[in-house]
Amino acid sequence: GPPADHVIVLFGATGDLARRKLLPGLFHLARAGLMPPRYRIVGTAPAAGAPTDAEFRAHARQAVAEFGRSRPEGPEWEAFEAALSFGAADTGAAEPLLAAVREAEAALGGRPHRLFHLAVPPVAFRSVVALLGDTGLAEGGRVIVEKPFGTDLASARALNAAIHAVFDESRVFRIDHFLGKEAVDNVLALRFANGLFEPLWNREHISHVQIDVPEHIDIQGRARFFEGTGTFRDMVVTHLFQLLGFIAMEPPVALEGDALRDEQAKVFHSMRPLDPAHVVRGQYTGYREEQGVDPASETETFAALRVGIDNWRWAGVPFHLRTGKALAEGRHVVTLGLREPVLRMFPLDARATAGGRCNELVIDFGDPGSITTRLLVKEPGPSMRLTDADLVFNYRTSFAAQNFLEGYEHLLLEAMRGNQALFTRSDGVERLWEVAAPLLDAPPPVEPYAPGSWGPDSIEALVAPYRWHLPDRR
Ligand code: BG6
Repeated sequence: GPPADHVIVLFGATGDLARRKLLPGLFHLARAGLMPPRYRIVGTAPAAGAPTDAEFRAHARQAVAEFGRSRPEGPEWEAFEAALSFGAADTGAAEPLLAAVREAEAALGGRPHRLFHLAVPPVAFRSVVALLGDTGLAEGGRVIVEKPFGTDLASARALNAAIHAVFDESRVFRIDHFLGKEAVDNVLALRFANGLFEPLWNREHISHVQIDVPEHIDIQGRARFFEGTGTFRDMVVTHLFQLLGFIAMEPPVALEGDALRDEQAKVFHSMRPLDPAHVVRGQYTGYREEQGVDPASETETFAALRVGIDNWRWAGVPFHLRTGKALAEGRHVVTLGLREPVLRMFPLDARATAGGRCNELVIDFGDPGSITTRLLVKEPGPSMRLTDADLVFNYRTSFAAQNFLEGYEHLLLEAMRGNQALFTRSDGVERLWEVAAPLLDAPPPVEPYAPGSWGPDSIEALVAPYRWHLPDRR
């Protein structure tokens, strides 16, 4: 059901993330009847250029019109808009924000929960947290922190310490929107609610795993953010590693709270620290000419890597991860390659098992996603010839579209419910930076790749004798 009454304070309310995801997402939750019975959303940003309430409402309307799933109109929009207000805050001068929060709480009456969403650049996390502590706003509240959480182990530890000085871990919600995607959560259902797959989900039966998130978009003008971050920190140490945690984890004792996060953390602790020789960093041709990019930039816009998990389930099974900007297609796919049966009884054409491929389980977690089991079947006709065929479950054709929640929507709802299961925990995040450390210390040089390609050629050698399962090469 809907969560209890809330005042949501949105830091970075006029920024990109709020415009593209958070404001449209909150409106979608409202339309879906999933917002609290009574709520207020207080936007905040530094005083310079801060909007009035009316301007903020117009800004939100624009954002929903451009990026939302339904038009900002009718009584539902009016109710949502009426819940919006704005209060500017600078370090040491947060009176307008304090006044706006007090006003919102008074309007709701009772004791609504406070939820702070830090949709600000990572460099600003600490000052915002300090402001919440100094002003007393933090009291009893919960905080959502955006990614990337730090830039290396030392900065992640420092950030955790700064946050824990104000919020204990039970009130910290480190968001990774991939963990809110329907098909990602469905990995848990697929694995632990069905007797069909889990018995195969190990090194005996799976030869390799590929986690592939190519993006068609380039950096879309986010030069400043991107130059300081790069694909590895933006996507791999966050989204791709979190996916890996779900794919590789042991059955949790429960699906809530720390049970799930304990299993995630165990996977992260079994990950072998990255070997820079098993990483390809790429940069698309033309990146250095983008406005705001250093003409000699060594920032990667692409990363491919081979990762090992040293535990009983996965020893010896390579995990191949790839993501990058300006690639041929935008996709979100996890592929589990199954081993060939012990005896090869059928003449197989070379293509069917090229690169060790045999059966595959393909989890596509593009919103809302699908699952495909690739089989070998007999071709109709007199001869015993095999070919491949798909068993497909597709969210879109199986369920009504209005029930889908996007990643951010699902996670905003869980944060209001106080459920941390799908948020990252301090120990897990710190361990991932530890895994990343050898690469961060000695990154291989970036290799150029053509926009519209699948990345630098050297990624082939990285996964030999396997091959990348590319959508257009099936
Ligand atoms: C964000 C990254 O976290 O995820 C972006 O900062 C990236 O660079 C985006 O494009 C991808 O998310 P999705 O859900 O569109 O695949």
